[in-house]
Amino acid sequence: MQWVRVLGTGSSVPEKVLTNFDLEHMVDTSDEWITTRTGIKERRIAAPSETTSKLALEAAWRALEAAQVAPEEIDCIIVGTVTPDMLFPSTACLLQHALGAKRAFAFDLEAGCTGFVYALAVAEKYLLAEGRGKALVVGAETLSKIVDWQDRATCVLFGDGAGAAVVGLGDRPGILATYLGADGGGAHLLELPAGCSRMPASFETVEKRLHYIKMNGNEVFKFAVRIVEEASLEVLRKAQKTVDDVKLFIPHQANIRIIQSAAKRLGIPEEKVFVNVEKYGNTSSASIPIALDEASRSGRIREGDIVLLVGFGAGLTWGAALIQW
Ligand code: UT7
Repeated sequence: MQWVRVLGTGSSVPEKVLTNFDLEHMVDTSDEWITTRTGIKERRIAAPSETTSKLALEAAWRALEAAQVAPEEIDCIIVGTVTPDMLFPSTACLLQHALGAKRAFAFDLEAGCTGFVYALAVAEKYLLAEGRGKALVVGAETLSKIVDWQDRATCVLFGDGAGAAVVGLGDRPGILATYLGADGGGAHLLELPAGCSRMPASFETVEKRLHYIKMNGNEVFKFAVRIVEEASLEVLRKAQKTVDDVKLFIPHQANIRIIQSAAKRLGIPEEKVFVNVEKYGNTSSASIPIALDEASRSGRIREGDIVLLVGFGAGLTWGAALIQW
């Protein structure tokens, strides 16, 4: 039997740190509010010249190095992102060229903050169907460029970064199961309204600040707590494993309260939950692969451990992957 295994991971975040105290000078907020409501203390902000593809490139090189795989060996590149360099061409194509991954086909995948989990599941199914090959799966964002820096309800939440994983076929267990879902009925809860076919860019859309993230935080919060539990239980059921088999739980890093509530509902003890939201805020599709890379490099995941990844976000979308390391 063949499995798709994670061969190496990498991540990259911009140098510039924006703290809660910095935000106190920008909008009507406080470190106390942000810390208690979200768990976030600081986030990274891309420089004007720092694009999503640049962050993706650094993360990808690190993942390739860790996997000891050359760019020419990659067959497929998928970039999960809601902040591509441009609407087209895809950020994945820019990455493919920058890496010199000449053999790879490449495309972006837009599934909100679930982008990386969706991309991982698609790459796994593709490699299994082909019966050969390697894929580069990336989650990369520069959300600071689509955040409304006058809106305190959203600007304190998001940050920039990228994470990547090289995956390939092996004869030992790797990705044990994946589970994906979507509900477009909740599309209006988290959106960027203007700039495409529904509302093309105009002076009016710019004036009304419609090129920025709009979110109904309370509704997304309730959805998130419910869906993290549901998606986790479903992927465990598919893999015929239980919560007790999970060595490390890596949920999307949006809000510490979502993470703690979901872990409590699932009965996962604190020491098995990976949290780095305090350092980076919500980096959308980059949050899970950055966390996975930090967990793996810091020795929190060892050979044979079972890791549970769970994402949720705009769409609405959700997804989980159960991986044996
Ligand atoms: O990646 C997936 C997408 N995102 C998420 O997962 C986010 C999900 N939602 C959340 O994390 C939370 O709903 C938020 C952190 C966004 C908000 O927390 P909350 O506890 O749901 O607060 P709230 O929206 O109910 O707001 C409470 C109060 C309001 O004031 P009033 O109406 O009670 O007077 C807000 O105006 O807090 C106020 N508020 C702020 N105060 C200081 C909102 N933002 C801020 C702020 N600083 N930055």
